[in-house]
Amino acid sequence: MQPRGSSPKIEVFETPEEVAHVAASYFVKIAEKASSASGRFSVALAGGSTPKRMYELLASEEYRDRVQWLKVHIFSGDERCVPPDHRDSNYHMASETLISKVPVPPENVHRMRGEGDAEANALLYEDDLRSFFPNVAWPNFDLILLGMGDDGHTASLFPNTPALRESQAWVAANWVEKLNAFRVTLTAPAISSAANIIFAVTGTGKATTLSKVLRGKYDPENLPSQLIQPSSGAIVWLVDKAAAAGLQ
Ligand code: 6PG
Repeated sequence: MQPRGSSPKIEVFETPEEVAHVAASYFVKIAEKASSASGRFSVALAGGSTPKRMYELLASEEYRDRVQWLKVHIFSGDERCVPPDHRDSNYHMASETLISKVPVPPENVHRMRGEGDAEANALLYEDDLRSFFPNVAWPNFDLILLGMGDDGHTASLFPNTPALRESQAWVAANWVEKLNAFRVTLTAPAISSAANIIFAVTGTGKATTLSKVLRGKYDPENLPSQLIQPSSGAIVWLVDKAAAAGLQ
């Protein structure tokens, strides 16, 4: 991971499988360091499809026993406005691939509610975060995992949506016109205050956008992933060759 204030570190690998293994290794390393230093490890998981393999690996014999799960606190970076057992739920995906397969205490799973009113759920989640991270301006997660959509969104910070301009709240209910749906999401400053941020991006479908996000002009309204600028932490982009095609 790059130290504070430097440009994002980009690591390119042959395949998505390699990206998943490297991401799992980073998770293990950061978890060990945080658990030893503070007795706990706080991580916000990404949704979507890219992280699935990483989560499966973390629950596998190869990685599971390298994490002190009793000290792990699992959060969500964002959630779709569906019940937790819905196929589109990010919690459902994380539960199926990881949470149900490792001994993390149930009280350490801080589920972001998708069911019900998005605004109320955002306030509820922020209350939970402020209890977990008391007396700080922004939450200092040990690790936040992120993906990037082919439109440049991350978490549920979609192009040209209200939450992009949120500068006070830690969690927002974000109306996404193109989805005709609300999403609940950590805000950009809340994400940027993490100690470690890992983007995992794979596939040719992301190549053009990744090049714009990392190499193009600063245009966060249209490329919200550019909003993620660590205030004091480290950031690394783990990408496969297909997604990195535009990054000469
Ligand atoms: C979500 C995620 C979202 C995701 C990107 C990439 O709720 O969908 O939080 O930000 O990371 O859409 O998704 P894929 O990994 O499926 O390409």
